[in-house]
Amino acid sequence: MKITVIGAGHVGATAAHRIAEKQLAKTVVLLDILEGIPQGKALDMYESAPVGLFDTRIQGTNDYADTADSDIVLITAGLARKPGMSREDLLMKNAGIVKEVTDNVMRYSQNPIIIMVSNPLDIMTYVGYVRSKLQSSRVIGMAGVLDSARFRSFIAEELNVSMQDINAFVLGGHGDSMVPVVKYTSVAGIPVSELLSAEKIESLVERTRKGGAEIVNYLKDGSAYYAPAASAVEMIDSIVNDRKRILPCSVLLEGQYGIENVYIGVPVKLGAAGVEEILEINLSRDELEALRKSAAIVEQNCNNLTDLLA
Ligand code: NAI
Ligand code: 2OP
Repeated sequence: MKITVIGAGHVGATAAHRIAEKQLAKTVVLLDILEGIPQGKALDMYESAPVGLFDTRIQGTNDYADTADSDIVLITAGLARKPGMSREDLLMKNAGIVKEVTDNVMRYSQNPIIIMVSNPLDIMTYVGYVRSKLQSSRVIGMAGVLDSARFRSFIAEELNVSMQDINAFVLGGHGDSMVPVVKYTSVAGIPVSELLSAEKIESLVERTRKGGAEIVNYLKDGSAYYAPAASAVEMIDSIVNDRKRILPCSVLLEGQYGIENVYIGVPVKLGAAGVEEILEINLSRDELEALRKSAAIVEQNCNNLTDLLA
């Protein structure tokens, strides 16, 4: 197993280290356009191996030739949000970067599974899909795992219970239009609506929607990376170990939920082949409407990229 991480910034470097610590690959390649940064960070990580007790080889590089024959490529290259900036503000800039990165990745790897992290997430995943010409089951966006983790952590904190017992799904686009599905949110199998008032749940939903901005406002000069990296690595773990976990991921819908040719977050089965199944769960009329509204926003933004993707 060879895993390449493109972008040696906050999310990329944190994910690379986590992949190595979990020994999910024999080799991790960390690539960035900045000279010295991926090399220095990779060496630093590798020197932690005797203490962290892992044998994964970590290589930092600026050369795509070193990424040859990767099984999985995690794309985190791009600009991160600054205070007051929406994910959509990043659209044109990051679309150019993701296009270039995907083209370079595909020059050296035949049939990798690409996991996209760069924002705006659902749109960048579509850019990666179009440019890579891979099957859509092999180009997957990370957002739902993060948004659900945020929701789960807020519920655990509110109820003062273990994180382990909280199940939650946040679907839709990674942005203000995300769709936390309260009906499928439970604590040790008990619907959250039996444990918290509707007002309290709504306030946690709202905090989840603004979860990314909450961190940006603290950090001032960048966005979240520990939970995002952990979420991306959870997806990689399910693929590498063929766990067939059911996780909310941004995938290409082709008629499911009445949505056509749009990348959006829904529950999927993740295994060795990538997306092995897209689950169509029962949603209330309001939730379905919110999902479709979220998809329409993504679609509109993708349509603005027609020239760039040509
Ligand atoms: P960062 O600024 O720390 O790192 C980005 C790295 O990408 C930098 O090292 C930069 O040199 C590199 N880069 C820029 N252009 C490149 C190119 N053409 N080729 C190779 N490398 C290039 O940013 P951070 O915090 O790591 O975030 C990365 C991206 O992930 C951002 O777009 C951010 O918005 C997104 N993000 C998405 C999340 C999600 O849930 N999907 C969660 C957190 C971040
Ligand atoms: C987040 O949700 C910035 O998308 C990133 O933290």
